[in-house]
Amino acid sequence: MSKKIVYPGSFDPITFGHIDVIDRLAEKFDEVIVLISSSTQKKYIFSLEERKKLVAKLFKSQKKVFVDSWDGLLVDYLRKKKINILAKGLRNSRDFEYEVTMDHSNKVLFPDIETFYLISRPEYSFISSTLVKEISMLRGDLSKFVPDIVIKELEKK
Ligand code: PNS
Repeated sequence: MSKKIVYPGSFDPITFGHIDVIDRLAEKFDEVIVLISSSTQKKYIFSLEERKKLVAKLFKSQKKVFVDSWDGLLVDYLRKKKINILAKGLRNSRDFEYEVTMDHSNKVLFPDIETFYLISRPEYSFISSTLVKEISMLRGDLSKFVPDIVIKELEKK
């Protein structure tokens, strides 16, 4: 049976940190489903469809990586797809605090769920989509944060 894992996130926009997690997952799993989703608590500059298109473009030649989007509860997507394995990236203790709460909530909603946590590589631990958006608005150099095609899309906003 092929081993599938879902890597959910906002990806507004996708960064080198996310890309590294996806590449590392693709080394260990047969199928990595990058799930572009949203939090009702966050405001996004790219629509769900735009975020999905951008990720799909970046991974078009990676055969193990699939990109999907979902507007509802994450656990409902997992039930629908009959997958109970998730991946999340952790950069620091703030991420950890946030992820523990989400993990526990997801487990209450879907007890069979199991989440694997990947600690970010040190060279990517400072990158966040929030900072990327701020640097972009202030016309800073984003070449160490996101790929060129993401910079181009940010410039259009
Ligand atoms: O990249 P992010 O912003 O940390 O990703 C958060 C995301 C999108 C994974 C989270 O908000 C989520 O799972 N949203 C889907 C709706 C949902 O299931 N909310 C309850 C989470 S306990």
